[in-house]
Amino acid sequence: MKKLQPARGTRDIYGSEANRMQKVVDSFRTLGAGFGFEDLATPIFEFTEVFSRPLGESSDIVSKEMYGFEDRGGEALTLRPEFTAGVSRAFVSGGMQQNLPCRFMSHGPLFRYERPQKGRYRQFHQINAELIGPADPLADVEVLTLGWRLLEALGVSGDVTLVLNSLGDPESRANYRDALVAYYEDHRSALSEDSLTRLATNPLRILDSKDDGDKTVNEGAPSIADHLSDAARAFFDRVQAGLAATGIPYTLNPHLVRGLDYYTHTAFEFITDALGAQGTVIGGGRYDGLIKQLGGPDTPAIGFAGGIERLAMLLAEEPAVQAPIFMMPMGDSQALTALSLADSLRLDGFKVIADRSGNLGKRLKRADAAAARFAIILGETECATNMATVKDLTASDQHNIAFDALGAWLREQDA
Ligand code: HAM
Repeated sequence: MKKLQPARGTRDIYGSEANRMQKVVDSFRTLGAGFGFEDLATPIFEFTEVFSRPLGESSDIVSKEMYGFEDRGGEALTLRPEFTAGVSRAFVSGGMQQNLPCRFMSHGPLFRYERPQKGRYRQFHQINAELIGPADPLADVEVLTLGWRLLEALGVSGDVTLVLNSLGDPESRANYRDALVAYYEDHRSALSEDSLTRLATNPLRILDSKDDGDKTVNEGAPSIADHLSDAARAFFDRVQAGLAATGIPYTLNPHLVRGLDYYTHTAFEFITDALGAQGTVIGGGRYDGLIKQLGGPDTPAIGFAGGIERLAMLLAEEPAVQAPIFMMPMGDSQALTALSLADSLRLDGFKVIADRSGNLGKRLKRADAAAARFAIILGETECATNMATVKDLTASDQHNIAFDALGAWLREQDA
Protein backbone atom coordinates (compact mmCIF):
# COMPACT_ATOMS: atom_id res chain seq x y z
CA MET A 1 0.00 0.00 0.00
CA LYS A 2 1.21 3.51 -0.79
CA LYS A 3 2.13 5.81 2.07
CA LEU A 4 -0.94 6.99 3.92
CA GLN A 5 -1.08 10.45 2.35
CA PRO A 6 -3.48 12.22 0.04
CA ALA A 7 -2.67 11.63 -3.65
CA ARG A 8 -0.44 14.22 -5.36
CA GLY A 9 -2.27 17.47 -6.00
CA THR A 10 -5.05 16.68 -3.52
CA ARG A 11 -5.32 17.95 0.05
CA ASP A 12 -7.29 17.64 3.22
CA ILE A 13 -8.92 20.96 3.97
CA TYR A 14 -9.70 21.94 7.55
CA GLY A 15 -9.28 24.64 10.19
CA SER A 16 -8.58 28.15 9.01
CA GLU A 17 -8.44 27.20 5.33
CA ALA A 18 -11.80 25.45 5.52
CA ASN A 19 -13.30 28.55 7.19
CA ARG A 20 -11.89 30.83 4.51
CA MET A 21 -13.11 28.62 1.67
CA GLN A 22 -16.56 28.42 3.24
CA LYS A 23 -16.65 32.21 3.49
CA VAL A 24 -15.96 32.46 -0.26
CA VAL A 25 -18.81 30.05 -1.02
CA ASP A 26 -21.23 31.74 1.40
CA SER A 27 -20.50 35.24 0.06
CA PHE A 28 -20.89 34.01 -3.51
CA ARG A 29 -24.22 32.31 -2.82
CA THR A 30 -25.62 35.31 -0.94
CA LEU A 31 -24.58 37.75 -3.67
CA GLY A 32 -25.62 35.39 -6.47
CA ALA A 33 -29.09 35.02 -4.94
CA GLY A 34 -29.37 38.81 -4.97
CA PHE A 35 -28.81 38.71 -8.75
CA GLY A 36 -31.45 35.96 -9.15
CA PHE A 37 -29.04 33.04 -9.54
CA GLU A 38 -30.35 29.66 -8.40
CA ASP A 39 -28.40 26.66 -7.17
CA LEU A 40 -27.59 23.95 -9.66
CA ALA A 41 -25.55 20.92 -8.64
CA THR A 42 -24.39 18.81 -11.57
CA PRO A 43 -22.78 15.37 -11.26
CA ILE A 44 -19.09 15.12 -10.50
CA PHE A 45 -18.62 12.85 -13.51
CA GLU A 46 -20.19 13.04 -16.93
CA PHE A 47 -19.85 11.18 -20.23
CA THR A 48 -16.40 12.16 -21.51
CA GLU A 49 -17.77 13.77 -24.66
CA VAL A 50 -19.69 16.36 -22.58
CA PHE A 51 -16.26 17.90 -21.91
CA SER A 52 -14.09 16.82 -24.82
CA ARG A 53 -16.07 18.48 -27.60
CA PRO A 54 -16.91 21.88 -26.07
CA LEU A 55 -13.60 22.44 -24.32
CA GLY A 56 -11.72 21.57 -27.53
CA GLU A 57 -9.67 18.48 -28.33
CA SER A 58 -6.57 20.66 -28.66
CA SER A 59 -7.03 22.48 -25.34
CA ASP A 60 -4.61 21.55 -22.56
CA ILE A 61 -7.51 20.41 -20.40
CA VAL A 62 -8.80 17.84 -22.89
CA SER A 63 -5.47 16.76 -24.34
CA LYS A 64 -3.51 16.41 -21.09
CA GLU A 65 -5.49 17.05 -17.95
CA MET A 66 -8.74 15.12 -17.81
CA TYR A 67 -9.31 12.32 -15.34
CA GLY A 68 -11.13 9.91 -17.63
CA PHE A 69 -12.00 6.31 -16.92
CA GLU A 70 -14.15 3.48 -18.12
CA ASP A 71 -16.70 2.31 -15.60
CA ARG A 72 -17.71 -1.31 -15.04
CA GLY A 73 -20.41 -0.97 -17.67
CA GLY A 74 -17.85 0.15 -20.27
CA GLU A 75 -18.99 3.82 -20.32
CA ALA A 76 -16.31 6.44 -20.99
CA LEU A 77 -16.65 8.90 -18.11
CA THR A 78 -14.61 11.87 -16.90
CA LEU A 79 -14.38 13.66 -13.57
CA ARG A 80 -15.53 17.20 -14.29
CA PRO A 81 -12.60 19.55 -15.07
CA GLU A 82 -14.95 22.58 -15.01
CA PHE A 83 -18.64 23.43 -14.60
CA THR A 84 -19.70 25.17 -17.81
CA ALA A 85 -20.04 22.09 -20.03
CA GLY A 86 -21.91 20.16 -17.31
CA VAL A 87 -24.26 23.07 -16.59
CA SER A 88 -24.94 23.41 -20.34
CA ARG A 89 -25.58 19.66 -20.54
CA ALA A 90 -28.01 19.96 -17.61
CA PHE A 91 -29.76 22.83 -19.39
CA VAL A 92 -30.22 20.68 -22.51
CA SER A 93 -31.18 17.44 -20.69
CA GLY A 94 -33.64 19.31 -18.47
CA GLY A 95 -35.36 21.02 -21.41
CA MET A 96 -34.84 24.32 -19.64
CA GLN A 97 -35.09 26.44 -22.80
CA GLN A 98 -38.75 26.98 -21.85
CA ASN A 99 -37.63 29.15 -18.94
CA LEU A 100 -35.06 31.52 -20.37
CA PRO A 101 -33.14 33.31 -19.10
CA CYS A 102 -31.65 30.85 -16.60
CA ARG A 103 -29.22 31.94 -13.91
CA PHE A 104 -27.34 29.09 -12.29
CA MET A 105 -24.75 29.09 -9.55
CA SER A 106 -22.71 26.06 -8.53
CA HIS A 107 -19.73 25.24 -6.40
CA GLY A 108 -17.69 22.17 -5.67
CA PRO A 109 -14.63 20.12 -6.59
CA LEU A 110 -13.10 19.86 -10.06
CA PHE A 111 -10.27 17.66 -11.32
CA ARG A 112 -7.38 18.46 -13.64
CA TYR A 113 -4.15 16.53 -14.02
CA GLU A 114 -1.84 19.55 -13.74
CA ARG A 115 1.59 20.02 -12.21
CA PRO A 116 0.78 20.95 -8.60
CA GLN A 117 2.16 24.17 -7.12
CA LYS A 118 0.97 26.96 -4.84
CA GLY A 119 -2.61 27.74 -5.90
CA ARG A 120 -2.73 24.87 -8.42
CA TYR A 121 -4.07 21.46 -7.46
CA ARG A 122 -5.38 18.35 -9.15
CA GLN A 123 -8.52 18.49 -7.08
CA PHE A 124 -9.55 22.10 -6.64
CA HIS A 125 -12.79 23.96 -6.05
CA GLN A 126 -14.68 26.61 -7.94
CA ILE A 127 -17.64 28.86 -7.50
CA ASN A 128 -19.37 29.12 -10.86
CA ALA A 129 -22.07 31.35 -12.33
CA GLU A 130 -23.79 30.91 -15.70
CA LEU A 131 -26.35 33.25 -17.27
CA ILE A 132 -28.01 31.35 -20.12
CA GLY A 133 -30.25 32.99 -22.71
CA PRO A 134 -29.45 36.65 -23.28
CA ALA A 135 -27.48 37.64 -26.37
CA ASP A 136 -27.40 41.17 -24.94
CA PRO A 137 -23.95 42.58 -24.04
CA LEU A 138 -25.43 43.96 -20.82
CA ALA A 139 -25.80 40.34 -19.66
CA ASP A 140 -21.99 40.22 -19.82
CA VAL A 141 -21.93 43.31 -17.61
CA GLU A 142 -24.33 41.67 -15.15
CA VAL A 143 -22.04 38.66 -14.80
CA LEU A 144 -18.92 40.82 -14.53
CA THR A 145 -20.66 42.89 -11.87
CA LEU A 146 -21.39 39.76 -9.83
CA GLY A 147 -17.69 38.84 -10.03
CA TRP A 148 -16.55 42.29 -9.00
CA ARG A 149 -19.06 42.65 -6.16
CA LEU A 150 -17.92 39.27 -4.84
CA LEU A 151 -14.32 40.47 -4.73
CA GLU A 152 -15.51 43.61 -2.92
CA ALA A 153 -17.58 41.59 -0.44
CA LEU A 154 -14.51 39.48 0.31
CA GLY A 155 -12.47 42.65 0.80
CA VAL A 156 -9.94 41.70 -1.89
CA SER A 157 -10.92 43.92 -4.84
CA GLY A 158 -7.98 46.25 -4.10
CA ASP A 159 -5.57 43.44 -5.01
CA VAL A 160 -7.37 42.43 -8.19
CA THR A 161 -7.59 43.78 -11.74
CA LEU A 162 -10.24 42.89 -14.32
CA VAL A 163 -8.63 42.16 -17.67
CA LEU A 164 -10.97 42.14 -20.62
CA ASN A 165 -10.86 41.13 -24.27
CA SER A 166 -13.21 40.33 -27.10
CA LEU A 167 -12.68 37.16 -29.11
CA GLY A 168 -15.35 38.38 -31.51
CA ASP A 169 -17.89 36.38 -33.50
CA PRO A 170 -16.96 33.40 -35.71
CA GLU A 171 -16.27 35.73 -38.66
CA SER A 172 -13.84 37.89 -36.61
CA ARG A 173 -12.20 34.75 -35.24
CA ALA A 174 -11.64 33.30 -38.73
CA ASN A 175 -10.05 36.57 -39.93
CA TYR A 176 -7.87 36.75 -36.87
CA ARG A 177 -6.84 33.14 -37.15
CA ASP A 178 -5.61 33.73 -40.72
CA ALA A 179 -3.60 36.77 -39.61
CA LEU A 180 -2.07 34.83 -36.71
CA VAL A 181 -1.12 31.85 -38.85
CA ALA A 182 0.60 34.14 -41.35
CA TYR A 183 2.51 35.85 -38.53
CA TYR A 184 3.57 32.65 -36.76
CA GLU A 185 4.61 31.02 -40.06
CA ASP A 186 7.11 33.88 -40.38
CA HIS A 187 8.42 33.11 -36.88
CA ARG A 188 8.38 29.30 -36.93
CA SER A 189 12.01 28.94 -35.92
CA ALA A 190 11.44 30.82 -32.65
CA LEU A 191 8.37 28.82 -31.61
CA SER A 192 8.39 25.98 -29.09
CA GLU A 193 7.61 22.41 -30.13
CA ASP A 194 4.18 22.66 -28.46
CA SER A 195 3.36 25.86 -30.27
CA LEU A 196 4.30 24.38 -33.64
CA THR A 197 1.65 21.74 -32.97
CA ARG A 198 -0.80 24.43 -31.86
CA LEU A 199 -0.08 26.33 -35.08
CA ALA A 200 -1.61 23.42 -36.99
CA THR A 201 -4.48 22.74 -34.59
CA ASN A 202 -5.41 25.95 -32.78
CA PRO A 203 -3.11 28.93 -33.37
CA LEU A 204 -4.94 31.19 -30.88
CA ARG A 205 -3.71 28.93 -28.13
CA ILE A 206 -0.11 30.04 -28.83
CA LEU A 207 -1.04 33.43 -27.33
CA ASP A 208 -1.59 31.60 -24.03
CA SER A 209 1.84 29.91 -24.05
CA LYS A 210 4.04 30.15 -20.96
CA ASP A 211 7.23 29.38 -22.94
CA ASP A 212 9.71 32.30 -22.91
CA GLY A 213 10.53 32.02 -26.64
CA ASP A 214 6.83 31.95 -27.51
CA LYS A 215 6.20 34.92 -25.25
CA THR A 216 8.75 37.00 -27.17
CA VAL A 217 7.16 36.04 -30.49
CA ASN A 218 3.73 36.87 -29.04
CA GLU A 219 4.78 40.43 -28.24
CA GLY A 220 4.65 41.27 -31.95
CA ALA A 221 1.62 39.12 -32.80
CA PRO A 222 -1.40 40.71 -34.48
CA SER A 223 -4.16 41.88 -32.18
CA ILE A 224 -7.74 40.58 -32.30
CA ALA A 225 -8.84 44.18 -31.76
CA ASP A 226 -7.81 44.90 -35.37
CA HIS A 227 -9.84 41.98 -36.72
CA LEU A 228 -13.22 42.40 -35.07
CA SER A 229 -16.23 42.65 -37.38
CA ASP A 230 -18.38 45.78 -37.00
CA ALA A 231 -21.01 43.81 -35.09
CA ALA A 232 -18.43 42.30 -32.73
CA ARG A 233 -16.87 45.70 -32.12
CA ALA A 234 -20.26 47.26 -31.35
CA PHE A 235 -20.97 44.40 -28.92
CA PHE A 236 -17.67 44.93 -27.13
CA ASP A 237 -18.18 48.71 -26.97
CA ARG A 238 -21.55 48.12 -25.29
CA VAL A 239 -19.96 45.82 -22.70
CA GLN A 240 -17.44 48.53 -21.90
CA ALA A 241 -20.14 51.20 -21.70
CA GLY A 242 -21.98 48.98 -19.20
CA LEU A 243 -18.86 48.57 -17.09
CA ALA A 244 -18.32 52.33 -17.12
CA ALA A 245 -21.96 52.87 -16.03
CA THR A 246 -21.49 50.41 -13.16
CA GLY A 247 -18.16 51.92 -12.16
CA ILE A 248 -16.20 48.68 -12.51
CA PRO A 249 -12.56 49.32 -13.39
CA TYR A 250 -10.91 47.19 -16.08
CA THR A 251 -7.97 47.04 -18.45
CA LEU A 252 -7.95 45.69 -22.00
CA ASN A 253 -5.61 42.93 -23.11
CA PRO A 254 -6.04 41.97 -26.77
CA HIS A 255 -3.94 38.83 -26.22
CA LEU A 256 -6.17 37.36 -23.53
CA VAL A 257 -7.50 34.13 -25.10
CA ARG A 258 -8.31 31.85 -22.13
CA GLY A 259 -7.57 28.12 -22.10
CA LEU A 260 -10.88 26.80 -23.41
CA ASP A 261 -12.18 26.72 -26.98
CA TYR A 262 -15.81 27.63 -26.43
CA TYR A 263 -15.47 31.39 -25.91
CA THR A 264 -16.92 34.01 -28.26
CA HIS A 265 -17.06 37.79 -27.78
CA THR A 266 -16.27 38.72 -24.19
CA ALA A 267 -13.42 36.89 -22.42
CA PHE A 268 -12.13 38.06 -19.06
CA GLU A 269 -9.97 37.29 -16.08
CA PHE A 270 -9.69 38.84 -12.64
CA ILE A 271 -5.99 38.67 -11.82
CA THR A 272 -3.77 39.48 -8.86
CA ASP A 273 -0.05 39.81 -8.17
CA ALA A 274 -0.54 38.71 -4.58
CA LEU A 275 -0.47 34.94 -5.16
CA GLY A 276 2.67 34.38 -7.24
CA ALA A 277 2.46 32.46 -10.51
CA GLN A 278 -1.19 31.34 -10.18
CA GLY A 279 -2.66 34.83 -10.19
CA THR A 280 -5.98 34.30 -11.98
CA VAL A 281 -8.68 34.20 -9.33
CA ILE A 282 -11.72 34.34 -11.65
CA GLY A 283 -11.99 33.55 -15.36
CA GLY A 284 -14.90 33.53 -17.73
CA GLY A 285 -16.57 34.74 -20.85
CA ARG A 286 -19.35 34.29 -23.36
CA TYR A 287 -19.91 30.90 -25.00
CA ASP A 288 -22.68 31.41 -27.53
CA GLY A 289 -22.06 28.20 -29.51
CA LEU A 290 -21.60 25.64 -26.73
CA ILE A 291 -25.19 24.64 -26.02
CA LYS A 292 -25.89 24.08 -29.71
CA GLN A 293 -22.70 22.08 -30.00
CA LEU A 294 -23.97 19.79 -27.23
CA GLY A 295 -27.10 19.12 -29.30
CA GLY A 296 -29.33 21.73 -27.64
CA PRO A 297 -31.12 24.75 -29.09
CA ASP A 298 -28.94 27.63 -30.28
CA THR A 299 -28.70 29.53 -26.99
CA PRO A 300 -26.21 32.24 -26.05
CA ALA A 301 -24.70 32.26 -22.58
CA ILE A 302 -22.05 33.86 -20.42
CA GLY A 303 -20.46 32.98 -17.10
CA PHE A 304 -17.41 32.75 -14.91
CA ALA A 305 -15.69 30.54 -12.41
CA GLY A 306 -13.53 31.54 -9.45
CA GLY A 307 -10.91 29.36 -7.83
CA ILE A 308 -12.06 28.99 -4.22
CA GLU A 309 -8.58 28.10 -2.91
CA ARG A 310 -7.08 31.18 -4.59
CA LEU A 311 -9.82 33.52 -3.38
CA ALA A 312 -9.51 32.05 0.12
CA MET A 313 -5.74 32.71 0.07
CA LEU A 314 -6.39 36.38 -0.73
CA LEU A 315 -8.64 36.89 2.31
CA ALA A 316 -6.72 39.07 4.73
CA GLU A 317 -8.55 38.07 7.86
CA GLU A 318 -9.73 34.85 9.33
CA PRO A 319 -13.53 34.89 8.98
CA ALA A 320 -15.29 35.36 12.32
CA VAL A 321 -16.71 32.16 13.74
CA GLN A 322 -19.22 31.99 16.62
CA ALA A 323 -17.40 31.44 19.92
CA PRO A 324 -18.42 28.15 21.56
CA ILE A 325 -19.72 27.61 25.08
CA PHE A 326 -18.20 24.57 26.80
CA MET A 327 -20.56 22.33 28.78
CA MET A 328 -18.70 20.44 31.50
CA PRO A 329 -20.48 17.86 33.68
CA MET A 330 -18.05 16.89 36.43
CA GLY A 331 -19.22 13.30 36.76
CA ASP A 332 -21.58 10.67 35.39
CA SER A 333 -24.45 11.79 37.57
CA GLN A 334 -24.46 15.24 35.95
CA ALA A 335 -24.12 13.92 32.39
CA LEU A 336 -27.82 13.78 31.52
CA THR A 337 -28.53 17.24 32.92
CA ALA A 338 -25.61 18.56 30.86
CA LEU A 339 -26.94 16.80 27.78
CA SER A 340 -30.36 18.40 28.03
CA LEU A 341 -29.02 21.87 28.96
CA ALA A 342 -26.65 21.79 25.99
CA ASP A 343 -29.48 20.75 23.73
CA SER A 344 -31.78 23.58 24.82
CA LEU A 345 -29.00 26.18 24.55
CA ARG A 346 -28.25 25.01 21.01
CA LEU A 347 -31.95 25.30 20.12
CA ASP A 348 -31.67 28.83 21.50
CA GLY A 349 -28.92 29.61 18.92
CA PHE A 350 -25.79 29.10 21.00
CA LYS A 351 -22.86 26.98 19.88
CA VAL A 352 -22.27 24.44 22.64
CA ILE A 353 -19.46 21.91 22.79
CA ALA A 354 -20.01 18.98 25.13
CA ASP A 355 -16.80 18.32 27.05
CA ARG A 356 -17.15 15.28 29.26
CA SER A 357 -13.66 13.95 29.80
CA GLY A 358 -10.54 14.79 31.79
CA ASN A 359 -10.04 16.89 34.92
CA LEU A 360 -11.33 20.45 35.16
CA GLY A 361 -7.91 21.99 34.46
CA LYS A 362 -7.52 20.07 31.21
CA ARG A 363 -11.03 20.91 30.12
CA LEU A 364 -10.56 24.62 30.78
CA LYS A 365 -7.38 24.52 28.70
CA ARG A 366 -9.30 22.93 25.85
CA ALA A 367 -12.02 25.58 26.15
CA ASP A 368 -9.36 28.27 26.03
CA ALA A 369 -7.73 26.76 22.96
CA ALA A 370 -11.13 26.73 21.25
CA ALA A 371 -11.49 30.47 22.00
CA ALA A 372 -14.54 29.79 24.19
CA ARG A 373 -15.67 32.66 26.36
CA PHE A 374 -17.84 30.68 28.78
CA ALA A 375 -17.60 27.27 30.42
CA ILE A 376 -20.67 25.91 32.19
CA ILE A 377 -19.63 23.66 35.05
CA LEU A 378 -22.11 21.18 36.49
CA GLY A 379 -21.13 19.41 39.71
CA GLU A 380 -23.22 17.83 42.45
CA THR A 381 -24.17 21.15 44.07
CA GLU A 382 -25.12 22.73 40.78
CA CYS A 383 -27.45 19.87 39.90
CA ALA A 384 -28.96 19.78 43.41
CA THR A 385 -29.78 23.53 43.27
CA ASN A 386 -30.46 23.86 39.49
CA MET A 387 -27.85 26.63 39.42
CA ALA A 388 -24.97 26.37 36.95
CA THR A 389 -21.48 27.67 37.63
CA VAL A 390 -20.59 29.76 34.58
CA LYS A 391 -16.92 30.59 34.21
CA ASP A 392 -16.13 33.66 32.13
CA LEU A 393 -12.81 32.64 30.62
CA THR A 394 -11.83 36.11 29.44
CA ALA A 395 -12.74 38.02 32.61
CA SER A 396 -11.57 35.09 34.78
CA ASP A 397 -14.56 35.34 37.10
CA GLN A 398 -17.57 33.13 37.66
CA HIS A 399 -21.33 33.40 38.20
CA ASN A 400 -24.10 31.22 39.54
CA ILE A 401 -27.00 31.22 37.10
CA ALA A 402 -30.29 29.33 37.36
CA PHE A 403 -30.62 26.67 34.64
CA ASP A 404 -33.76 28.23 33.19
CA ALA A 405 -32.15 31.69 33.06
CA LEU A 406 -28.95 30.56 31.30
CA GLY A 407 -30.03 31.46 27.75
CA ALA A 408 -31.16 34.97 28.71
CA TRP A 409 -28.06 35.57 30.81
CA LEU A 410 -25.65 34.43 28.10
CA ARG A 411 -27.44 36.60 25.57
CA GLU A 412 -27.00 39.61 27.88
CA GLN A 413 -23.27 38.88 27.89
CA ASP A 414 -23.26 38.81 24.07
CA ALA A 415 -22.14 35.17 24.09
P1 HAM B 1 -10.79 28.37 -15.93
O1 HAM B 1 -10.05 29.61 -16.28
O2 HAM B 1 -10.26 27.09 -16.46
O3 HAM B 1 -12.27 28.61 -16.42
O4 HAM B 1 -10.90 28.24 -14.36
C1 HAM B 1 -11.44 29.29 -13.57
C2 HAM B 1 -10.65 29.48 -12.30
O5 HAM B 1 -10.54 28.25 -11.59
C3 HAM B 1 -9.22 29.91 -12.52
O6 HAM B 1 -9.14 31.28 -12.73
C4 HAM B 1 -8.59 29.51 -11.19
O7 HAM B 1 -8.85 30.48 -10.21
C5 HAM B 1 -9.32 28.24 -10.85
N1 HAM B 1 -8.51 27.06 -11.23
C6 HAM B 1 -8.41 26.49 -12.45
N2 HAM B 1 -7.59 25.42 -12.41
C7 HAM B 1 -7.15 25.30 -11.13
C8 HAM B 1 -6.28 24.41 -10.43
N3 HAM B 1 -5.70 23.37 -11.06
N4 HAM B 1 -6.06 24.61 -9.11
C9 HAM B 1 -6.65 25.65 -8.46
N5 HAM B 1 -7.50 26.52 -9.07
C10 HAM B 1 -7.74 26.36 -10.38
C11 HAM B 1 -13.27 27.70 -16.30
O8 HAM B 1 -13.22 26.71 -15.63
C12 HAM B 1 -14.53 28.11 -17.05
N6 HAM B 1 -15.49 27.00 -16.94
C13 HAM B 1 -15.07 29.40 -16.49
C14 HAM B 1 -16.37 29.82 -17.13
C15 HAM B 1 -17.61 29.73 -16.60
N7 HAM B 1 -16.50 30.34 -18.33
C16 HAM B 1 -17.78 30.57 -18.59
N8 HAM B 1 -18.45 30.17 -17.54
